[in-house]
Amino acid sequence: MLKPKMQEALNRQINAELFSSYLYLSMAAYFESAGLGGMAGWMQVQAAEEQNHAMRLFAFVNERDGRVLLDAIDKPKAEWSAPLEAFQEAYQHEQKVTSLINDLVDLAAGEKDHATVSFLQWFVNEQVEEEATAKAICDKLKLVGDNGPALLMMDAELGRRPAAAPLSTATAEGG
Ligand code: FEO
Repeated sequence: MLKPKMQEALNRQINAELFSSYLYLSMAAYFESAGLGGMAGWMQVQAAEEQNHAMRLFAFVNERDGRVLLDAIDKPKAEWSAPLEAFQEAYQHEQKVTSLINDLVDLAAGEKDHATVSFLQWFVNEQVEEEATAKAICDKLKLVGDNGPALLMMDAELGRRPAAAPLSTATAEGG
């Protein structure tokens, strides 16, 4: 069974993942308003992935005979000055999430909760990928600069991102 301190921390992480989903959905809306449907689609897939992250935690808390308690989700920012600014913020946000995951691992280790330490390894690995993906897009957008046709090409490329797998499949395949 989960200790109360661990349960509270995992519930906070559920909230953080749901906020991530909300933030990326807000970025999707911004990209739609800017006529960049590919980037909007990319952000929608990202929002769905974050929802899956929350549900992984949700399932784990229940499996450990804990209690999921949902809190209010903060209002996300709605406007960005340019695509690069939005993706830079996504990159910064992922770095913040990585530090939250690291803190969770530290707490679980301190509590000698080995099951939670083991469970969280998936998130540790996922954050490496999340940060690398966001940074790669920022680097490309810097190269694109003010070149409109190049921006549209990149929009089309990001629009080809496959949809997020549903949680059952995601769990089986680690995606
Ligand atoms: Fe759930 Fe993007 O971290």
